[in-house]
Amino acid sequence: MSWYSEHVLPHVVNITCGGRAMVPVRKPALAGLRGVVVEVGFGTGPNIGLYPPEVERVLAVEPSARAQEMAQKRMSMMSHPPIEFVGLDGASLPLASESADAVLSTFTLCTIPDIDAAMSEIVRVLKPGGALQFVEHGRSEDPKVQARQRRFEPIQKRIGGGCHLTRDPAELAERAGLKVEKVDRFVLRGPKILTTMSCGRAVRP
Ligand SMILES: C[S@@+](CC[C@H](N)C(=O)[O-])C[C@H]1O[C@@H](n2cnc3c(N)ncnc32)[C@H](O)[C@@H]1O
Repeated sequence: MSWYSEHVLPHVVNITCGGRAMVPVRKPALAGLRGVVVEVGFGTGPNIGLYPPEVERVLAVEPSARAQEMAQKRMSMMSHPPIEFVGLDGASLPLASESADAVLSTFTLCTIPDIDAAMSEIVRVLKPGGALQFVEHGRSEDPKVQARQRRFEPIQKRIGGGCHLTRDPAELAERAGLKVEKVDRFVLRGPKILTTMSCGRAVRP
């Protein structure tokens, strides 16, 4: 991980995605979570105070040591289910197959470099009937916005720690063999290349 990704980006993401304004956007992605939840790209822990009471344990996967430190600080300030850092890479989860009731991803599927490997891992660790729940920015349905996303993506990848603009979480989930049960698409205020959102649930058959 580069110095910029390790030391600067966690603060940038904390400000842009981790503030109060984003709580209503995040909350629907966590609705209905229960049991053992694997959270990929835990970041600075912006979801820590938002887990439903039915969540028994969170297994966090996050490569940035700085983000982990910031998350530990947040954990000390609010109540939450037991949270354990278990791995550094969503593409290689050190977890048993069929061990998780759910996987949570908020603004992370855009960033994981080997996304197909990560999706396979997500499917592997989910119990049958378990679900990937997500809220992510991604590819717009508007062809003009899509064209701008394709043009700007190389720059975004450089300044956003590998963040892609043209991934579609529901499409990734289907390609990995999950059944997309629901997906809400909406656009937040701001540049559409960055604010086209999908919030959904995809179940392992
Ligand atoms: C845009 S941030 C989102 C953080 C947090 N989930 C949130 O909702 O604000 C993307 C996160 O993915 C993490 N990440 C990058 N590569 C990863 C990988 N291979 N596996 C898991 N997480 C990764 C980054 O360190 C960063 O914390």
